[in-house]
Amino acid sequence: SRQWRGVLREYSDRLNISDATPIVTLGEGGTPLIPAPALSARTGADVHVKFEGMNPTGSFKDRGMTMAISKGVEHGAKAVICASTGNTSASAAAYATHAGIQAVVLVPEGKIAMGKLSQAIAHNAQLLQVQGNFDDCLDIARDLATNYPVHLVNSVNPDRIEGQKTAAFEVVEVLGDAPDIHIVPVGNAGNYTAYHRGYTEDLKAGNSTKLPRMFGFQAAGSAPIVLGHAVKDPDTIATAIRIGNPASWELALNARDDSDGWFGAIDDAKILEAHRILSAEVGIFVEPASAISVAGLLERAEAGAIPAGARVVLTVTGHGLKDPQWALRTADGSDVQPTVVPVDTPAIADLLGLRANA
Ligand code: F0G
Repeated sequence: SRQWRGVLREYSDRLNISDATPIVTLGEGGTPLIPAPALSARTGADVHVKFEGMNPTGSFKDRGMTMAISKGVEHGAKAVICASTGNTSASAAAYATHAGIQAVVLVPEGKIAMGKLSQAIAHNAQLLQVQGNFDDCLDIARDLATNYPVHLVNSVNPDRIEGQKTAAFEVVEVLGDAPDIHIVPVGNAGNYTAYHRGYTEDLKAGNSTKLPRMFGFQAAGSAPIVLGHAVKDPDTIATAIRIGNPASWELALNARDDSDGWFGAIDDAKILEAHRILSAEVGIFVEPASAISVAGLLERAEAGAIPAGARVVLTVTGHGLKDPQWALRTADGSDVQPTVVPVDTPAIADLLGLRANA
């Protein structure tokens, strides 16, 4: 038995790295692909969940960050910068500090989950809360990287998408082929693009027999790709994907057309309903943005767009512990109040409706 070595070492022959590349890794990748009978029963499809919350910093960003930081260090970077809705900043901070370089992260003020903010600070990033949204942060990060000696590690850096394509390789290895449909949440559309690239490379290499249809979902209040135009004031409780002008928009449209794919929009109420279904019926706890994959599956199934028995993989992108507050709200919006009991076994048994063994 051996330990998983991180995506650069596991897939060294399928990534643009050489002996000169210092490998900065926290053991990312190798995440579980979990069969989801409850979702299969609801949809008539054969549904599997790729749980990317199991990465070292709790999101899929680690796959691209190991690549971006390793290549950055190879080329002499002493500091990296990113704009982020939270997960990229957590990941950049962890990988940069592991490599012994500085991370600078720009986040929209008041619009990132507490867990992610804590991670960036814990990992010693210089964190700046910008009085604007993610799109403003990305504009500034690009400006700084162009004009100052800081290396950009947003997904406009092609190394990020390269690293992220490895998730598709893992799916093909586990299933023995590509799925029929692959569903992801969409913010900048980098991950959508990365899966399509990974599956395309697997098909060309003869590791699979088909290209999955790529389905991507945006929050209804921030759905520029669905609307066909940038959204100036994007809004959603799924703060990870609160993005009005996706960086990989063109690449994603190409991937959609090439895969006979689909982009849809889901409102916040449906995102939270799917969040409850995934945690209560499947046993996987994710942040709201990730639950949109489940909501998208249910919406497409209801629309009759998921053939019976189709093999469907949903990527859930970030761990629920990053933004746990949503589990403590009921469907009607009221707070969940955990029941308080005295130190009294019979009273607790009584409350639980238990009768003593005969
Ligand atoms: N899910 C989560 C949990 C995310 O954090 C993100 C993006 C996405 C989905 C969308 O992925 O941008 O490749 O389409 N988060 C970025 C960040 C923007 O800064 O952490 P995408």
